[in-house]
Amino acid sequence: VISGLVDDLRSAVGADQVLVDADLRAGYEVDWTGRFRGRAAAVVRPGTTAEVAAVLRACAGHGAAVVPQGGNTGLVGGSVPLAGEVVLSLRRLGGLGEVDPLAGAVTVGAGATLAAVQAHVAPGGLAVGVDLSARDSATIGGMVATNAGGLAFVRHGPMRAQVAGLEAVLGDGRVLSHLGGLAKDNTGYDLVGLLCGSEGTLGVITAVRLRLVPLVGERTAALVGFADVGAAMGAVAGLRRAGVALEAAELMLEDGLAVVAEHLGVPSPVTAPAVLLLEWADPRSTEAVASLDGATAVAVADEPAPRARLWRHREAHTEAVNALGVPHKLDVTLPLTAVPRFVDEVRALVAEASPPSTCVLFGHAADGNLHVNVVGPPPEDDTMDDAVLRLVAERGGSISSEHGIGSAKRRWLHLSRSPTEVAAMRAIKEALDPVGVLNPNVLLP
Ligand code: FAD
Ligand code: MLT
Ligand code: ZN
Repeated sequence: VISGLVDDLRSAVGADQVLVDADLRAGYEVDWTGRFRGRAAAVVRPGTTAEVAAVLRACAGHGAAVVPQGGNTGLVGGSVPLAGEVVLSLRRLGGLGEVDPLAGAVTVGAGATLAAVQAHVAPGGLAVGVDLSARDSATIGGMVATNAGGLAFVRHGPMRAQVAGLEAVLGDGRVLSHLGGLAKDNTGYDLVGLLCGSEGTLGVITAVRLRLVPLVGERTAALVGFADVGAAMGAVAGLRRAGVALEAAELMLEDGLAVVAEHLGVPSPVTAPAVLLLEWADPRSTEAVASLDGATAVAVADEPAPRARLWRHREAHTEAVNALGVPHKLDVTLPLTAVPRFVDEVRALVAEASPPSTCVLFGHAADGNLHVNVVGPPPEDDTMDDAVLRLVAERGGSISSEHGIGSAKRRWLHLSRSPTEVAAMRAIKEALDPVGVLNPNVLLP
């Protein structure tokens, strides 16, 4: 069966674009954290939508499951072949369409990286509304498939809010296309929105019409220290009540900043139990930040290079955690009022664990989104994950804030979704992917 499949894949995309040698497959078979690894039946790299369709027809014909993969920066084990699937890499679909200055929109291939699109639209004074530190590798298709959140969520919302249209190939090879990107378009079910956050289970996204936002070049960033997480959360709420349009509001903790400082070899500009990275564009907001209640230390930057130096202490958290060992990454949302208590509770819970673990917490403060990173437990031991996710559910939170469910959190989906919701999701999956070839081992239990 495998050799027949490989022959059909070669017919679909050309022999050069079907990787079967172990050395060539290796980079596609392990995730960014090193926690999730498997073995692919083959890695196939189509260059056009028609080739993606031919690949899916071949796989459906052989009953072979497919894992779509973009930049492979996903953090929930959803982009790697854990059960011998075919990896369908979208990276060659990197085309960048002409920017439409009237609509403030652009159509790009699913394999275009975020950084490539940012560079493409910036000369027209435009930007992508979602930004994240994996921008050099993460693809637009992957960001849509995970409905990524990121560093600008407080200002522009999730990836779904940036998507005006898309094209995707269904499991049987049919192409579903709705790329027009009209501002108003009430013609039935929101299929484009449904594909956002579908994690490769409903269709392989091949092109995306992005609704862009104004590029705000002149901004001020500040690291602001507080005595505790409650004071930091109160400060963000206070600024928003005062009408400050925050471009970013990121939360870090003293021990996490120390891990980052050690990793970078650069001391943190601000040391305090809780530290916010705030960013704003309106100069009138500077006064509001300067007079924040409870601030114990501040470092401010408005030129690009010093601003980037402040941001480095936030953005390097992910790589600094990876450098400690293979992390368990739990990306969760709490009601804003529950965040300070949850931080203490989750630290206590991890501290009780055996073997001893390091817990690095950070997150997107305005969204109640905490990233709980635990290094210590073996990759396959998910006792800790179970305890943390149950605590999240007890506190009224969500087990996935922005990274998705993937294979890592499938067994806990019921903590955030009712049986009726899961049944509805399953019915949608069966309608769009009746043969069950599209990422069958992620999302749904
Ligand atoms: P992949 O990792 O390749 O895939 C992710 C999922 O999408 C998989 O389930 C895959 O099957 C599916 N998929 C990929 N491409 C397609 C496609 N074309 N069609 C259908 N399905 C597809 N996430 C955030 O939300 N906010 C952050 O701030 C953030 N920061 C990050 C920082 C770092 C350093 C890293 C490593 C990751 C970060 N992520 C963040 C996680 C990650 O979700 C995002 O980087 C991005 O959304 C993944 O894009 P990708 O192209 O790498 O997708
Ligand atoms: C971030 O906010 O930096 C990301 O979501 C990545 C991570 O959680 O490590
Ligand atoms: Zn994040």
